Amino acid sequence: MNAPIILGIESTCDETAAAVVEGKELRSNVVASSMEEHARYGGVIPEIASRAHAQAFVPVVSKALADANMTIDDVDAIAVSAGPGLAGCLAVGVSGAKALAWSANKPIYGINHVIGHVAVTQLQFGDLPANTMALIVSGGHTSLLHVNDIARDVQVVGTTLDDAAGECFDKVARLLGFPYPGGPHIDRHAQLGDPHALKVPQGLTQGKAGKAHPYDFSFSGVKTAIARWVENRQAQGLDVPVDDVCASLADSVAQVLAKKSMMGCHEYDSTTMIVGGGFSANSQLRAALREAGEKHGVDVRIPDIKLCTDNGAMVAMLGSNLVEAGVQPSAMDFPIDSAMP
Ligand code: KG4
Ligand code: ZN
Repeated sequence: MNAPIILGIESTCDETAAAVVEGKELRSNVVASSMEEHARYGGVIPEIASRAHAQAFVPVVSKALADANMTIDDVDAIAVSAGPGLAGCLAVGVSGAKALAWSANKPIYGINHVIGHVAVTQLQFGDLPANTMALIVSGGHTSLLHVNDIARDVQVVGTTLDDAAGECFDKVARLLGFPYPGGPHIDRHAQLGDPHALKVPQGLTQGKAGKAHPYDFSFSGVKTAIARWVENRQAQGLDVPVDDVCASLADSVAQVLAKKSMMGCHEYDSTTMIVGGGFSANSQLRAALREAGEKHGVDVRIPDIKLCTDNGAMVAMLGSNLVEAGVQPSAMDFPIDSAMP
């Protein structure tokens, strides 16, 4: 069989994206974002994002096909993110993808967006070894996964019990007066500060007895500790050392993510660690994971940021894995699942 040609469609949050992948080769990758429309509200507004998807869907999909020098007839299957994500956003992408699949008589795969973040690394690093760990971190998710077989056997090892890592950064950034999304501002200021200036708790370093799994994360306590510290300084009429606050936050979050990732590699005897999601742009996390990987003999694979943030290539790549593994397409009435695990 020739390498399958897959059109991937993504609309879980504020990116309307489409891409064509042939086997493990990226043929096109088009992303339209409604981020600017949300910035003044300090967060993604689902209603605005859904409208933007409805507007961008046809142009983005058309451009992805045109950039690949293809028409829908050349495509073997369509893959679309069916969850997790914002329900209204998912509904636009999935309805559009179904309409296209139905009219062109193509099989369709409703895929898990978070597993797409793992799959996309194959475009840069080649095949995924069996028994791989993956850390997927963004404004919406913080998941530690064990990937035995990307098409059939992916297990959740740990997840956040409250805020995602990016969400925690965005909330602290807001407190410090940075515009949304604040994560990149924290990153830049953290590079100038002292990471030990504030005592910041490391979210669930040991796991909460009887409650959390040792691999779960919790970042809302980190955010609260920083908010209290900042309020205290302000109440005393003291300056807030922004660089030090950012450095302390970034260090705490990066260390706990790196630590639990390596604990996972050790437990599963895995020597490959995949990293993805928009938060993997974070300098402190990249450095902490690279250092930990060297120390523990783990090959840490962090792709270029363009592949880390939400895109269609991740969806198409996972679709390609499913087709090559002989997984049956989804039934045409497959549902969206905004809380897909
Ligand atoms: O994957 P993504 O583009 O969107 C979703 O959340 O799905 O991730 C965006 C998140 C935001 O919370 C943003 O503040 C954070 O990732 N982020 C960063 C950095 N770049 C993006 N956080 C810290 N440091 C960065 N360099
Ligand atoms: Zn994502």
